Order: sequence, then C-alpha cells, then structure tokens
Amino acid sequence: MLELVDTKTDWIADEIAALKEAGLFNTIRTIDSPMGAWVTIDGRPRLNFCANNYLGLANHPRLREAAKRAIDTYGVGPGAVRTIAGTMSLHVELEKRLAAFKRAEACISLQSGFMANLATIPALVGKGDVIFSDELNHASIIDACRLSRAQTVRYRHNDVADLQRAIAETTEYKRRLIVTDGVFSMDGDIAPLDEICQVAEAHGIMLMVDDAHGEGVLGEGGRGIVDHFGLHGRVDIEVGTLSKAFGVVGGLVAGKQTIIDWLRQRARPFLFSSAMTVPDTAACIEAVNILADSTELVDRLWHNAGIFRKGMQEMGFNTGFSQTPIVPVMLGEAPLAQKFSRRLFEEGVFAMAIGYPTVPQGKARIRVMNSAAHSEEDIQLGLEVFGKVGRELGVI
Ligand SMILES: Cc1ncc(COP(=O)(O)O)c(C=O)c1O
Repeated sequence: MLELVDTKTDWIADEIAALKEAGLFNTIRTIDSPMGAWVTIDGRPRLNFCANNYLGLANHPRLREAAKRAIDTYGVGPGAVRTIAGTMSLHVELEKRLAAFKRAEACISLQSGFMANLATIPALVGKGDVIFSDELNHASIIDACRLSRAQTVRYRHNDVADLQRAIAETTEYKRRLIVTDGVFSMDGDIAPLDEICQVAEAHGIMLMVDDAHGEGVLGEGGRGIVDHFGLHGRVDIEVGTLSKAFGVVGGLVAGKQTIIDWLRQRARPFLFSSAMTVPDTAACIEAVNILADSTELVDRLWHNAGIFRKGMQEMGFNTGFSQTPIVPVMLGEAPLAQKFSRRLFEEGVFAMAIGYPTVPQGKARIRVMNSAAHSEEDIQLGLEVFGKVGRELGVI
C-alpha cells in the first residue's frame, strides 16, 4: 500500500522550534485555584503578579453570588444572537448600569474587549476612509482597522505633534477616525487624551479610545479615562473590557445614543455572535454596583501600585514610562526576560516574561500587574524576590 507522507504542515514544527530557540515560545501555566493575590500552580501557592484582576473582583463573594442567583433565574446561555433570539433583561440592565456609571449617554455590551473593537471600527469606517492609529495600539485595534478596509495611518506613540502631521499629510478621505489605547497595556503609560481630543475637535475627526486598562482603574472610582480627563460628551466612542478590573469577561462600547444605536444595526460581532453568558452578565452588574458604592478598591489598587513602583525604582530597576498599576520591568532580550521569570517562579512569584511580537524586538520585559487584592506584605515580598533575582542575574 502506498504510504502517504504529510509534509504540508512540517513548517509549523520548524517555526515552533525557532520560537523555542529564540526564547519566544509561550509556556502557559495551569492554575488550580481561583484568581487572586495568590494562585496555586504545580501544587504550590505563588504570589500572582500576572492577572489583570486589578480590583480582586474575579473571585469576589458578591460576584459569585450574583452569578449563581442569575443562573437559577435565567439558566446559563443567551440562546443566540440578540437580534434573533431577543435580548435578556440582564443585558439591558448591564448596559444601563454601565452607561450611568461611565456618565455616558448609552452603552452596548459585547463578548469581550477584543470583540468590542472588532465591532466598532468597521462599523464606523470603511473603504475610502482614514484611521489615525497610535503605533502601540492593542492587537485588537490593529485587526479591527484591517477588517474595516479603511486606510490606516500610524502616528508615533503618544505624539500629538506627529498625529497632527499625519492628519495634515492625509488629504484624501471620506470619513476620519482617531483611535488610541487609553492606558497602554505593555507600558502602563496613559494617552494624552485631552490633547488628542482638542486635535480631533479642531479637525472634525471622530475620536475613539480603548480604555481596557483604564476601566475600573482611572477616573473617579474607576470610571475610566474619559472621566480622568473630564472629557464627558467630547470623546465619541469609549471601548472597554469587563475582563480586567471588572473581574469577569465581556466588552463594552459607551458613547452617544446614535452611535450605540448604529452598532446595534451594523456591528458584526453583535449581529453574528451570541451575547455574554448569563452568569458573566450578572456578575458584571454586581461589579458595577461595587464600584458605584465605594472607591475603596480603586484607592487600594493605586496605593499598592505606588509602593511597588517606588520600591522597584529605588532598587535600580527600569520601569519604563509606567504611570498606572501596570509596571513593566524592562530587561531587553527575550531569553533574559524568560530566565528572570523562571527564577521568580522558583522563588514563588508568578510574573510572566513578555517578548516579541507582543512588544518590539529587544524590548522584552516582565510585566507586573498590581492589584487591590495584594496586601502590603505581598507587595514587600514581591519586591524582595525581584531584588534577589535582579542581583543574581546582574540586572541591578
Ligand atoms: C487595550 C486592550 N484592548 C482590548 C483588549 C482585549 O480585551 P478582552 O480580554 O476583554 O478581549 C485588551 C486585553 O489585553 C487590551 O489590553
């Protein structure tokens, strides 16, 4: 019998071997506990500096109870896409609560932050239009720009003068959109949204911010970047996620009622993919309730992040341009970052190395995510271990 040799996919094994060689192969840890300040990995508790669980809501008793109650009332799944199977009152309630919390006219929920970007950008611009996009914008914005088929013009990171140059040089267009991350997820710096907003207004260009890492973090009680800069009603679209500070999974778009109405008609992930699940939706409503009740968790998050960043800087680590609870520990080459992360792990600290393509070549780092769930002892322990490994590897 003829033996068939399948060589079509051999290249994938070669690519994987090359990734391993370059120190860029992702090894995914398995967690056997709820998300919290500490997680159990390989049977041992590890201090967790990886999760975007900024406020410790991922395992909060009020969210757990809300999810359980909702399951008893509504079951687990939404049935189909909302335009076909009808929308559950839970989704409507979440959207109303989010709009009120964010002081926006209206809000629509999506399945994730990634989906929210894919939903929004192609619904606003298309062929013949132009998008001005910060060069460090998140992958989901980059993919959404590509999907839209609009021309994408990148401007230098957080550089308003370069944005103005790009606008001046781009004269052929039907509609225009400026899009930026609010907080940059790998560097922890904040977009100068007030200045970008002035530029957008001066030129009559639509403005969208992806506030995934500002939601529940920036602004009064975590109301986000628009609240942080006091730009209510002036930024056309705020995209956000419910998967980070809100502790669950989901996405949102907040803005003027007409824009949200339009997304309900034209956003493809809304029209062609099922809604958030029942327990997720109910848990997110409870997260909004907690945030609306008190600023305590947000205050603790910033307190912890301040102690950690200062401690790292005092030891001589390079923490880049971090202004938020995201603290990158800049190491340069990917193999060093991987080795650093491995040594931290052996010492009981879980903090992942991030390399290309998530960050540019030669800019590998450990990204530390601070959380309100950490106690001050946790932060001190983290600093001690970073110091020990940093000295051992000659980084400080
Ligand atoms: C700026 C930004 N936008 C969108 C997302 C995607 O959010 P989600 O995990 O809810 O899909 C992320 C998550 O990493 C992000 O950092």
